[in-house]
Amino acid sequence: MQAILDEIVATIGASDDRGKVADYIPELATVDPNQFGIAIATVDGQMFCAGDAEQLFSIQSISKVFSLTVALGKLGDGVWQRVGREPSGDPFNSIVQLEHENGKPRNPFINAGAIAVADAILMGHQPKEALAEVLQFVRFIADDDSICFDDKVAKSELATGHRNAALAHFMAAYGRIKNPVDYVLGTYFHHCAIAMSCQQLARAGLFLAADGRDPLTGARVVLPNRARRINSLMMMCGHYDGSGEFAFRVGLPGKSGVGGGILAIVPGRASIAVWSPGLDTVGNSKLGTQALERLVQATGWSVF
Ligand code: DON
Repeated sequence: MQAILDEIVATIGASDDRGKVADYIPELATVDPNQFGIAIATVDGQMFCAGDAEQLFSIQSISKVFSLTVALGKLGDGVWQRVGREPSGDPFNSIVQLEHENGKPRNPFINAGAIAVADAILMGHQPKEALAEVLQFVRFIADDDSICFDDKVAKSELATGHRNAALAHFMAAYGRIKNPVDYVLGTYFHHCAIAMSCQQLARAGLFLAADGRDPLTGARVVLPNRARRINSLMMMCGHYDGSGEFAFRVGLPGKSGVGGGILAIVPGRASIAVWSPGLDTVGNSKLGTQALERLVQATGWSVF
């Protein structure tokens, strides 16, 4: 396994064609695109790393997997009254479907859906309480209390996040946002601004590879049925309008973020985190996707 990761770093990680770093969040535009890291945590307790696997990066939309898990813990199936479970086929920040679909986002991973989930988590509380809950959950599943928000990234997005503000207000107009819109956006922007390394992220995803139980501590995180459903949403919706392509090329439940990270789950075996800041045209890590494609070729880990 280590040899496969070293080969991926030496070949794909060194590619000249790295995609384009997200620049609509000014703070992310400052990230050096020449970084590349990969980490694999296995359910039997091994950790394999290569490249910049210990470097912190902004997990962005990958955090939507964690906020969804927290929301399911609080509301159970009530979450599905607020967001759907279908792929959107539209860009992550699109507003078009909301108007035709009564303000209900297609799924919890597009921006509108994750904003609706942030609203669900708030439940009348202050953003800092909801955020403390999400951060505590991430620290628990990563078994690492050092994980934090990157305030600069959160503030940078708050200052420029007009599209997300538009999505939130549009949903509020349909009566679908119950808390003050600025609370909801503050919660959403901050959980997107959690900073983690590939090593921490791969560790955090292990419960999804192990039927909802942390295989290293033995702690029950979610029931097996819930882990299965979260994985299915990651497979169908985790890469937005690139989800079909990701399933075709990689064939694993995965969630991308505009920071250039991807979390991919190999049910029963492993959790993989890869990071390369340059994105493809739909906003998913270009080299990260290539790395996962190579990894499943080498391991046969695709679920198909
Ligand atoms: O709301 C946004 O635009 C960002 N905080 C998250 C978007 C994102 O990561 C999309 N992923 N590929």
